[in-house]
Amino acid sequence: MKSAANVSRAEIVELHRRHVWPPYTSADEHASIDPLVIVHAEGSYLEDKNGKRYIDGNGSWWTNVLGHGHPRLIRALREQSETLLHCASSMIANPQAALLAAEIVAVAPKGISRAHFSDDGSTAVEVAIKTAFQYWQQNGRERRVRFIALSGAFHGDTLGAVSLGGVAAFRNVFAPLVFDVLHAPVDDVDGFEKAVHAIEKILETKSDEIAAVIVEPLIQGAAGMRMWPAALLRRIREATSKADTFLIADEVFTGYGRTGTMWACDQAQVSPDLLCTAKSFSGGVLPMAATLSTERVYEGFKGDRSRALMHGHTFSGNALGASVAREVLAIYEDEKILDQIALKHKRIAQAFAKLQDLPGVVRTRSLGMVGACDVGSGGYAGKSGWRVYEHGLSMGAFLRPLGDTVYITPRFNIEDSVLDRLLEIVAESIRLSVR
Ligand SMILES: Cc1ncc(COP(=O)(O)O)c(C=O)c1O
Repeated sequence: MKSAANVSRAEIVELHRRHVWPPYTSADEHASIDPLVIVHAEGSYLEDKNGKRYIDGNGSWWTNVLGHGHPRLIRALREQSETLLHCASSMIANPQAALLAAEIVAVAPKGISRAHFSDDGSTAVEVAIKTAFQYWQQNGRERRVRFIALSGAFHGDTLGAVSLGGVAAFRNVFAPLVFDVLHAPVDDVDGFEKAVHAIEKILETKSDEIAAVIVEPLIQGAAGMRMWPAALLRRIREATSKADTFLIADEVFTGYGRTGTMWACDQAQVSPDLLCTAKSFSGGVLPMAATLSTERVYEGFKGDRSRALMHGHTFSGNALGASVAREVLAIYEDEKILDQIALKHKRIAQAFAKLQDLPGVVRTRSLGMVGACDVGSGGYAGKSGWRVYEHGLSMGAFLRPLGDTVYITPRFNIEDSVLDRLLEIVAESIRLSVR
């Protein structure tokens, strides 16, 4: 077997083009783009095969919250690998998964008492959908088969998650396959109020049909970092409680401090019935996710095998992933990660507010460790953000955009000086490429 370290850059690109089928990439792009070849990552930086370093401005798809190669996470991996890598998880307990369940429940919103482990954000959402659905099927409310989501939502790429999603680019081609979901319309930046009103109305009249309402609390990530107020989230909780149906908080992106508090739900003092976490859950180290739920939800499954939650993934409760996820929580505690976020947020907020003065910048916004602005009106299909991306790369920052939305989601303990440099590169890249 060839050593990966000894393969040339040209050979890697050649093999990548010939055999890898990368996500969200057209065949034309795949054949023509000279990809970044990342061989090393440390702290806030990605390093390519030529030795050039880039500040990881998008936290490696919103996963890397503690920096690349955190020594404690590496140690956790190494130590766990010496005893147990993986075993099945039905009728078998493993210590890391059991401890992780107790530890995540301890920091979860009030009322959460159970963790069902899976692999990634999409699977965490699938589990939430199926849990809510099955709960009502076996507890005398069989007509509760529909879900309410927000238009512009993104909950993942598996078919249940796509059904809930509202971003055309991820959904349209699969429209004939997805199940029917009521999408509350968010028609512009301030349209969340209208959407919440629509949800309240549906719940007043059709609550006997609704299995759950699902939201990305406070920020719709993939829709273009659309931010919405905690007060509206509280209204959704009140409406779902009144209708006695479930609220699913998809905190795959917003959780673990992204919005400034451990969970975005915390800012609205809201406790959901089900909460999905992934990405930061393992510090971006391994595929590891959880669907958390309350005891009330779990009680709906009490009884014999005919009432068991009929969902499972091969790597559920993976011992390596669980040991790393536990260490992430310990680092949060020891390094006071949430406290650091408040300070970093100020820098992000100030820098993004200033971008408003640049020609072509439509709207700036920030919350917690997210700063975003629009540099065109094309949404996810827009091309302006990609021009900013190219300039960012040449200046040493990885700023993968969401079409015309330019944003940063760096690690939460990024050094102040590196954060300031990242913010300078954002401003300079926009200045050079947007008119
Ligand atoms: C809110 C939200 N939910 C679910 C997902 C899907 O996560 P994954 O890509 O890990 O399946 C994402 C991914 O970006 C997300 O932002």
